Amino acid sequence: MDKKIIYSAVQPSGNLTIGNYLGAIRNWVRMQDEYECFYAIANMHAITVKQDPAELRRRTLELAALYLACGLDAEKCALYVQSHVPQHAELCWVLNSVAYVGEMSRMTQFKDKSQKHAENINMGLMDYPVLMAADILLYQAQCVPVGADQKQHVEIARDLAIRFNNRYGETFAVPEPLILKGGAKICSLQEPTKKMSKSDENPNASIFLTDDRDTVIRKFKRAVTDSGSEISASDEKPGIANLLNIYCAFKGCALADAEHEFEGRGYGEFKLAVGETVADALAPVQREKERIMSDKTYLNDVLKSGADRAFRAARRTLSKVYRKIGFYQGE
Ligand code: TRP
Repeated sequence: MDKKIIYSAVQPSGNLTIGNYLGAIRNWVRMQDEYECFYAIANMHAITVKQDPAELRRRTLELAALYLACGLDAEKCALYVQSHVPQHAELCWVLNSVAYVGEMSRMTQFKDKSQKHAENINMGLMDYPVLMAADILLYQAQCVPVGADQKQHVEIARDLAIRFNNRYGETFAVPEPLILKGGAKICSLQEPTKKMSKSDENPNASIFLTDDRDTVIRKFKRAVTDSGSEISASDEKPGIANLLNIYCAFKGCALADAEHEFEGRGYGEFKLAVGETVADALAPVQREKERIMSDKTYLNDVLKSGADRAFRAARRTLSKVYRKIGFYQGE
């Protein structure tokens, strides 16, 4: 039987946090064994907000290196840069004539970003979900693992697939979102009721995958905790519960075990243990990432073979789309 097709992508903007690692990267790695996976670095999405060109280029490579360091295997999945496969922009254009302005202007992320970047509400920002639909539909993906904040975008991709299929005949697989929980939601170390975000203005709120050992330990030491002294994962203690979740996610243990382990011990000791655990887990990934970054030939080869594989799949779908909509493709 054919393997199920999985599609996901990540933007090369901002540094990845341990929330991204636990929620997205680890799942991408897990799924590559079972499914046919296409994973993109979404640089075309990234330019919908202002980017420094040199930074964007550097981050694209770093992200690829990081994913490989975390265990993505270029033999098993297609890891590639979105702009290396021209069909994304081409299918996006076709889907633009199927998508309605009204539905795009109602998207939550578009409204949020328009508010945040009021000086730069560009067409790309509004078209973002259509490009994302093109990403997914090009590969006939059945399943799209994403964080909860991207669920609405996958639903639009579904709507567009269904609308297109109804209008022109069966063309696209209709994708399903797979909402990644990553064990538990990882929250900000400074405001533990808020999700940990790579774009948080307070650098102490997030642990980045590139943070060195001292930084990791210092940030955990400064993490906001709750009143009282008991180390338990209750709703009244979002700070402690978050630290416990992080600890368990990296240790691979159950909450109850961690609560038991730290019974009767103070917050200071507990925070240090969490910091050390996370720093220990990140160290080998960081070393491997640096090694890959210093081997550009290898990195470029991986991205090239990923793009070749993606290109072949994407070309097949786009050619079908062009036929269905009546684009003359020669005889
Ligand atoms: N919008 C996604 C994010 O910000 C990234 C992305 C782009 C994506 N294209 C995609 C995710 C296709 C899943 C499928 O996280």
